[in-house]
Parts: sequence; structure tokens; C-alpha cells
Amino acid sequence: MPHCSNTMQHIIYSHTVADDLTKLLAELHYDRLFLLTDENTHRLCRPLLKGSPAEHAENIVIGATDEHKTPETLMAVWQALCQGGATRHSLLVCLGGGMVTDLGGFAAATFKRGIKFVNIPTTLLSMVDAAVGGKTGINFNGLKNEIGAFREADAVIVSTDFLHTLDDINMRSGYAEMLKHALLDGDRMWAEHLTFDVYSFDFSRLQTLVEESIVLKQRIVKEDPHERGLRKALNLGHTIGHAFESLALQKQCTVPHGYAVAWGLVCELYLSTSFGFPVEKMRQTFAFVREHYGCFNYDCRDYETLYTYMQHDKKNVAGHINFTLLGDVGDIRLDCRVSKEDVFAAFDFLREG
Ligand code: GLY
Repeated sequence: MPHCSNTMQHIIYSHTVADDLTKLLAELHYDRLFLLTDENTHRLCRPLLKGSPAEHAENIVIGATDEHKTPETLMAVWQALCQGGATRHSLLVCLGGGMVTDLGGFAAATFKRGIKFVNIPTTLLSMVDAAVGGKTGINFNGLKNEIGAFREADAVIVSTDFLHTLDDINMRSGYAEMLKHALLDGDRMWAEHLTFDVYSFDFSRLQTLVEESIVLKQRIVKEDPHERGLRKALNLGHTIGHAFESLALQKQCTVPHGYAVAWGLVCELYLSTSFGFPVEKMRQTFAFVREHYGCFNYDCRDYETLYTYMQHDKKNVAGHINFTLLGDVGDIRLDCRVSKEDVFAAFDFLREG
């Protein structure tokens, strides 16, 4: 059974999900089939699998949203697998956003030391990020993705058809991860992303951008599946972005993950200018983010708290905050250190321009 191998993960781009799932399942050989959904994807997305073997699979339905990404939900999934008679030759299809694919992937990775699983992401964020690349896990002790394993899905079916009913905020949230991939890739992809109309999505163009985004992520994961080096590039925008998310949570006003990443990208591009990143490109990216994501509501009294959150980032080494920055679009610099004053100046920059 493939774990994180040095081959590209099997991704199927589809506009006929039920047919493509049927073909895929015919190749995967399993004894019992289970379908994991949350309450929303069970109602809204499961009908798209009609006509495939998943229609008759044993259903496991969990609560929607990150609040349910817990050990209790994981145990409920293990329990449902046991009660449904799952063996180590069974197969789990995870149909949902990042919460479902992360938790479902971890349940599959651990049940009887690992059963096959297929991800069918239903949000833009999970298509271009969570469902691809083998990071699985749950939240624990108030920390996001604290417990987990690297284990790639046996296949991922990506269908932008699911996105027609996704709301604008979730679309923009996913798009921020695509913008991050574009910044890591190069000028052409970056410029294309800045000219894409995120108010009235052109779905055929979006399909191309989604595929390019996934290919970029796959290239990085193939080279460094366990995040020992290059995969850290995917943290661009996240060191500061996660601090914004944590502060928002503390103030009981959650922000969508991608919005926090977009604001984090601006701050980290500002920091990147000390490593040669062109100021003009930083300003162009900032203008795009400001127009489509607005600004996080914070002021200088929050800076110390934000910095403390950054110091607790699990990706730090020996107490140092480790940034991924850029020398230019596509010129990735890993493990960068910057002064606290510069981080505070980046906070100023996002607020005041
Ligand atoms: N979401 C970042 C990664 O998959 O490494």
C-alpha cells in the first residue's frame, strides 16, 4: 500500500465524479466500502456519487466544522469502522472539506495499522491543499493538527463541480492558498493569479489554475514528503497567518483560514523585501489582498500577543521563529530569521500600507 512515496500522488480531475469513482474503485480491490462525510457534505455532496458503489457504502457521518476535529470524533469513526465490519482490506472514501479529509485520512492511516482511502475534496481549500500531500490529523489540547501522521490517500478525485455551490468567503479562502502556490512557483503563475476575478469565478479558468496549483504542491511534496526541507516552503504566509487566526480565536471572532494566510502573505512578503523581494511585486500583491480580503482588525496593543503565538509555532526550532520567505517570486528561502522589530514593522505595514 503506498504511503508517502517518491512518485506523484494519483490525482483524478473529474467532471463525472460518480463514473470516475466507479472506475477507480474497480482498480483498488477492497472488501467493504465506507463513506465518511460531515452533516453538510452528506446532504449536499453525497448525491453526486449516485450510481457509484459509494451509494451503497456504509455511511459514517460526523459533525461539520473544525470543532469536531477531535479525538472523540476520531474514536467515533474507528467505532463505526469496527461496527461495520471493516478489515485491513476495507476502503474509506472521505467526501468533504479539509476537516473530513484530515480526520478521515488519520482514521484510515491508523485503523488496523492502515487501510486504503480516497479523498474527494469538496472545498477549494481542501482541493489545493488539505486533501493532497499526505498530512492527516486532528486537533488536540487546543492546538491545531497536533496529532497526526503522514499518509497519502491512494487517490484524490478533484472536481470543481462541487464549487458551484460554495460561498464567496470559502472560495476566497481557498484562493489564498493558490496565491501562495503561485508566489512559490514563478512570475507567470503569480501574474495570472493577480488578474483572476475572484468576484465572478470563471470556472473553466479556475479549473486550470486549480490543476496548476495541485501540480506545484505535488512537486514539492514529492521532493520532501515529510517536511524536512523544501516542504517548509508551503508554510509561506502561515507563520504570521496562524498568529492572526489564534488572535481572532482569542477574541472570539474566527477568521477563515485563507484570509489569515492572505494577510500573513502580505506581512511575510514585506519581510522578504530584506531578502531581495522586489518592493513593487510586494505592493501589487498587497493591493490584491487588500481589495479581496480586506484587513484583519487589530492594533499595536495586539503585537506582543501575536508575537507570542508565533513563538509557540510547532515548526520553530530551538526557540527560533523559522520563516519561509522569498528572494523574488519563485525564489524560495527556507529557515529565515528576522528581528522582532521587523515583524512589528510588518504588522504596521499590513494595517497602514
Ligand atoms: N499545508 C501545508 C502542507 O501540506 O505541507
